[in-house]
Amino acid sequence: MNAISPQRLSSQRRLPIVIVGHVDHGKSTLVGRLLNDTGSLPEGKVEAMREMSRRRGMPFEWSFVMDALQAERDQGITIDTTQVRFQTATRPYVIIDAPGHKEFLKNMVTGAASADAALLVIDVTEGALEQSRRHAYLLHLLGVRQVAVVINKMDMCDFSEARYHDVAKGILGYLEEIGVRPSAVVPISARHGNNIVTRCKHMDWYSGPTVAEALDNFLPPKSLTDQPLRFPIQDIYKFDERRIIAGRIESGALAVGDTLTFSPGGRTAKIVTIESWNEPEARTQAVAGQSVGITLDQQIFIERGHIAARAEARPIETHSIRVNLFWLGHEPLVVGRSYILKLGTAEHDVTVQAVERVIDVEDLSGRGGDRVERNGVGEVVLHSRSTLVVDDFGDFSRTGRAVLVDGYDVVGGCIIQKPKTDEMPAHNLIATAHTLTAEERSISNGHQGGILWLTGLSGSGKSTLAMGLERELFRKGVQICALDGDAVRQGLNVDLGFSPEHRSENIRRVAQVARLFAESGMIVVTAFISPTRADRAIAREIGGSFFHEVHVAADLDTCETRDAKGLYKKARTGLIPEFTGVSAPYEAPVNPELVLDTGKISAEGSLADLARYTELALIRPARRGSKTKAV
Ligand code: ADX
Repeated sequence: MNAISPQRLSSQRRLPIVIVGHVDHGKSTLVGRLLNDTGSLPEGKVEAMREMSRRRGMPFEWSFVMDALQAERDQGITIDTTQVRFQTATRPYVIIDAPGHKEFLKNMVTGAASADAALLVIDVTEGALEQSRRHAYLLHLLGVRQVAVVINKMDMCDFSEARYHDVAKGILGYLEEIGVRPSAVVPISARHGNNIVTRCKHMDWYSGPTVAEALDNFLPPKSLTDQPLRFPIQDIYKFDERRIIAGRIESGALAVGDTLTFSPGGRTAKIVTIESWNEPEARTQAVAGQSVGITLDQQIFIERGHIAARAEARPIETHSIRVNLFWLGHEPLVVGRSYILKLGTAEHDVTVQAVERVIDVEDLSGRGGDRVERNGVGEVVLHSRSTLVVDDFGDFSRTGRAVLVDGYDVVGGCIIQKPKTDEMPAHNLIATAHTLTAEERSISNGHQGGILWLTGLSGSGKSTLAMGLERELFRKGVQICALDGDAVRQGLNVDLGFSPEHRSENIRRVAQVARLFAESGMIVVTAFISPTRADRAIAREIGGSFFHEVHVAADLDTCETRDAKGLYKKARTGLIPEFTGVSAPYEAPVNPELVLDTGKISAEGSLADLARYTELALIRPARRGSKTKAV
């Protein structure tokens, strides 16, 4: 071992390791010894424990060290509840889950604890048992690639080289089949401290590393900051006028000025500030592992559970995922049942669509079925009606996993497999070109497709105008449909309220729908307050050349006096928050294609103006087009 200075040692990141194996194969004894032999226990601790054993008339065991740590934890002396720390001369370590801890499997499977390396302990007198194999399989499933096998209790077989090779062969064969290549197979006696830190004189036939050396040979933890950005949104806070998007950076880094893409949906915005609460200087960047709040240059629709990434390396959006599942539930997982899938900060209702394979960890055989029993492992397909934002676990250890919850209980851990290409809709969008052209449609319909985007205060008469135009032009054989705020908000946009972000999303979706109608040759007349210029600019961008902005320009006094729905009265008494014109702004269009002053002109007059505009902008040009065509 290379000794390094205490300063460097303390500045190094602790390598998180896990110690697995059958319950009686000596994990606790190994931990006790490791702590003692590396000099990581406080002075006098072991003497005190020996003394205590003497008084109680029982032989001292190294596993008492673990028990003592457990007792301290129970009394609240050690703050950290599951982590045991020690250091060799080379590097500090943390055992992320103490052996025997009853939540051990659950922590491993759910990702509450994640290890960079593992020691698999096997009793030489028993060889690898089912639990040893199960744990080894778990390491494989969880992507723990750095593994050393420790063959314990060598003193019980007279340090027999032949017995060591026998047991080593058994486990190596199994590990090879699951693709785990251990870096060493160390024969030890944990009880006597052989080959833990000091070499054993009874096993001079063994020339490999001791346990401490095997640990020190593992590669240092990989930096999550070097991976692509994943910033799952935890919450959105309002402070004064600022809207702070808060979360923990799971991987990668972000900086002021960066453009982020939010999934699902792919909306983008730039980071204006990185907020910090306790620091004197404003932060300009943040990295993996840090919890931050950011502000953006645009009020886009973002919710808890969305993930921010960079446009060139976005997570996958899908409704179906295939996972390697480790099932912890008392009741089996069965096809057709629904559970809650916790995916980072997001929660989704999912249904088990298929159990594709149930894996027998003993002999690694796989069979089909419709259920996975407790402690079983399987390949399962989960379906969600909402969009799941996921990563392949092989690339992203943090966002590539999820847990299943039934009621209040965590019942399963999921390692997400890379979706097959046909299961990745968002990444495979290649719109098929219509063979039917806009021109063909307009010749047949006698008018062009288009969007008449009515904007104005509530009560200004948008809906009345839209419905009026719909009836009048329908009579003339025009393919027309009206989209009205109150109606769309009861269906398509039932999930949206009236905050600025929700209004933006309302407008974006309506613009997309209107565009689809317009492309299919229809005239769409929309009646949405759409109070901000920015949102209408987005609608115009989506609508492209179909888009015509119509300002229905009755002033606030007029609208409030009419108050057809009684909403202004409610808003004035504070019953409706953020009511446009009263407690939320309305920005009049700067350069609309048409202004209808419904405050001054009668309803009939305004409708006639709107019909005339439609005739000129969308109907006549098509007739001219069809004539030219006909010639
Ligand atoms: S928008 O601002 O997002 O464009 P939209 O046109 O869809 O609004 O919906 C407006 C209708 O919702 C109003 O006509 C009114 O009936 C109802 N409404 C309920 N709460 C509000 C509110 N806070 N502000 C404006 N309209 C509201």
